[in-house]
Amino acid sequence: MVAAAVLAGGQGARFGGEKPKQFAEIGGEAILIRSLRAFVCSGLVDLCIVSVPAAWIAETEALIAQTDLGQRCPVRVIAGGDSRGQTLLQTLTFLEHNGMAEDTVLITHDAVRPFVTRRMIRDNIAAAEKFGACNTCIPATDTVFFSADGAFVSEVPDRRTVFHAQTPQSFLGAQLYALCRQVPAADFAAMTDGCSVYAYFGKPVAMVAGERDNIKITYPGDLDRAEQILKTWKY
Ligand code: CTP
Repeated sequence: MVAAAVLAGGQGARFGGEKPKQFAEIGGEAILIRSLRAFVCSGLVDLCIVSVPAAWIAETEALIAQTDLGQRCPVRVIAGGDSRGQTLLQTLTFLEHNGMAEDTVLITHDAVRPFVTRRMIRDNIAAAEKFGACNTCIPATDTVFFSADGAFVSEVPDRRTVFHAQTPQSFLGAQLYALCRQVPAADFAAMTDGCSVYAYFGKPVAMVAGERDNIKITYPGDLDRAEQILKTWKY
């Protein structure tokens, strides 16, 4: 089984507005519905789990009911957690109670990245099956540096070794769930994603090629770029 987790449990403080940004619209449709559609239309997943703030479950179910997505693929809406890591854990717990097998692949995706492509989803599934964990990424275009004190540059890594993490991140779900439960609570609280859990245990995380258009909506201005990308977008 391949399950897609559309992580939409955040509040979107940087974006602001009356409702969480995943409910803001691009091209007249909620961003999270567009992200969900990318997975359903890929034809590569057997189950979609959408995690939203508890107060938004009914609204999300109503939005999905206005589409044909639920007819094309089973879609379940669950409550997210207070942090992205907690939302991930709650998704894994849901999956554990709903038929997670040893070979189940879990694709985890930011609901606010509506431009995930079928190629990325396909490559994620293949990499998770082969390596256990993978992260979609693109090479850094800016030079980045470390600063230990926030005032002076302490180290400049070779840009060719620096990448920007995107999502999806994908895993053998049962393996990820077992690892998450081995991380001490205080350490897990600092983690926002499954790849951090693999890194914590020194386990390999394969890299999957992302795309520059696979943007995350973080600030209101990102909606302009999203509307631009949408003009040439095909599911
Ligand atoms: N997310 C989640 N559960 C949380 C926090 C975040 O599922 N408790 C999801 C968001 O809904 C989003 C993705 O993780 O789809 C990436 O989150 P990000 O945009 O970085 O954070 P938000 O919490 O949504 O926004 P902000 O940090 O500005 O408050």
